Amino acid sequence: MAALLFFTGIPVSPAADEKAPAPATGAQEFNSKNTFRNICSFCHEDYGRKAGKGPQLMNNVNSDEYLFNRIKNGKPGRMAAFGGAFTDDQIRDMVKFIRSLRPDQEP
Ligand code: HEC
Repeated sequence: MAALLFFTGIPVSPAADEKAPAPATGAQEFNSKNTFRNICSFCHEDYGRKAGKGPQLMNNVNSDEYLFNRIKNGKPGRMAAFGGAFTDDQIRDMVKFIRSLRPDQEP
């Protein structure tokens, strides 16, 4: 019997359709990373990992409270106050984001 069982490797079925479902989160969630990229990185380059028009924020030696106040109240002539644009909670999120920055890791 010289049956040649010959498997050609025809794909059984096209890879399962893996369309990621769109996240249906309704309310716009505050995203500190995107906010930072859109608004702050004009002056704080590379998510604040590098100095630009504004100082580097990664590894900043100032306290969380200091950073919070700078974001909220700005510094006349240097940086705008963002207290009108963001809630205190959102500003705290931004401070957390700044604290999470690492030199060897894309935020
Ligand atoms: C127009 C440029 C500009 C933009 C936009 C800007 N900053 Fe700044 N930022 C500065 C400058 C300049 C300083 C330094 C101010 C000073 O002399 O204390 C600063 C300081 C800071 C500090 C304090 C750092 C330190 O060591 O004193 C924080 C925190 C900060 N910025 C966060 C932010 C965040 C968050 C945003 C976006 C919501 C933002 N900045 C947008 C220019 C900017």
